[in-house]
Amino acid sequence: MSAVSSETILVADVGVDVEMLRASMPPGPATMLSLAQGVDSVLTIVDDSKPSLLVIGCTSSSNTALELLREARRRHENCAIVVLYGGSPNGFMDRAFQLGADDLITLPQPQGAVIFALEKAVSRRRGAGGGVALAPLICIVGPKGGTGKTLTACNLGVALARAGARSVLVDIDLQFGDVGLALGLPPDRTIYDLAVSGSTVDSDTVGRFLTLHASGLNTLLAPVRPDQAGAIKPDFLRQVYMALRVEHDFVIIDTPPAFSPEVIATIDIATNLCVVGMLDALSLKDTKIGLETLALMGRNADDITLVLNRSDTSVGISHADVATILGRAPAVLVPSDRAIPRAVTEGMPIVLADERSGPAQAFKQLAQLYLRESAYATASGSVESSKRAGGRRSLMRKGR
Ligand SMILES: Nc1ncnc2c1ncn2[C@@H]1O[C@H](COP(=O)(O)OP(=O)(O)OP(=O)(O)O)[C@@H](O)[C@H]1O
Ligand SMILES: [Mg+2]
Repeated sequence: MSAVSSETILVADVGVDVEMLRASMPPGPATMLSLAQGVDSVLTIVDDSKPSLLVIGCTSSSNTALELLREARRRHENCAIVVLYGGSPNGFMDRAFQLGADDLITLPQPQGAVIFALEKAVSRRRGAGGGVALAPLICIVGPKGGTGKTLTACNLGVALARAGARSVLVDIDLQFGDVGLALGLPPDRTIYDLAVSGSTVDSDTVGRFLTLHASGLNTLLAPVRPDQAGAIKPDFLRQVYMALRVEHDFVIIDTPPAFSPEVIATIDIATNLCVVGMLDALSLKDTKIGLETLALMGRNADDITLVLNRSDTSVGISHADVATILGRAPAVLVPSDRAIPRAVTEGMPIVLADERSGPAQAFKQLAQLYLRESAYATASGSVESSKRAGGRRSLMRKGR
């Protein structure tokens, strides 16, 4: 999907560097107008063409731009309106949001950031108008290595797919990602191949680099060699996520045990964070630091689901101690099971290898939490893809 189409109008205010404005925009057949011709005359064209996206390029002192914004919003409820502006925000941002802007972006910005904001705005308006809404983006995090992030990501993804939700798992452990191995998938196409393909990052392109698991789960696999990791930048990831969120019901991200720039960018836009910790003193200390770091990053505790892996380990720490140390009780407890390493060796997620095992039940419970929270499950208790059905659904924190 590209946000910019023949239904896009780009309006440049007086005093705006038009070349810079154009360069910030994604490629596409937008109609370019100048606000120098007057608000009324621009509005006449907007009224005639009924755009799905109106981009206003202006300075933060432009009352004319705000006037255009107010009238355009009043007349075109379903049109996404994004303001790209230069100068200090002062009260401009508040005013523009009050008048109905879907997003505001300061210039200059890398094109990827602008594309992300435009697609998000368009998608959100479509969702509000009864079209396709953005899927939740669930980021699996755990600051320490080996806590069970990949195990959780794979089994959650498979459990969601088996419940009928269109799900995709992206492996951004860019140097040592092992989702492919854990699911028994050959890395014939990876995120690296997508990054160096030189193609526009839209749903069609990204779709060509996905590898389908037998459960129905889509995957975008990590690079096969650590030296390829440098080709994947946060800006590129944002575009990939947006393309995937439009086409799926759930997007799950498996991360490396570090707050790398890619992980920080992902945490920043994720709708949900699934923190995976283990039951031992050192891991709990790291999980606590991880939770505190998420709070410092401005993430709301309500967006975080805590998974306690190896929850039956006997180390003299009770589950009540865990809740006290971490300041919250785990939502899901995953016991240790020798079948897990065996299943990993066979490239088979435990939810398929041994459906009745404790860990499989725990991962299905985790999937149910997300299904319930996203209002994806129908009232009858069965699960239906509202995207396939073309209906609306309320989502967890959509549209971050
Ligand atoms: N509940 C469990 N029972 C038995 N083995 C487990 C359990 N959880 C994880 N393991 C094993 O521990 C190892 C590490 O798990 P996993 O790869 O999921 O961790 P990770 O957090 O993704 O690690 P990294 O930070 O290196 O990416 C794997 O070999 C896995 O099979
Ligand atoms: Mg891992």
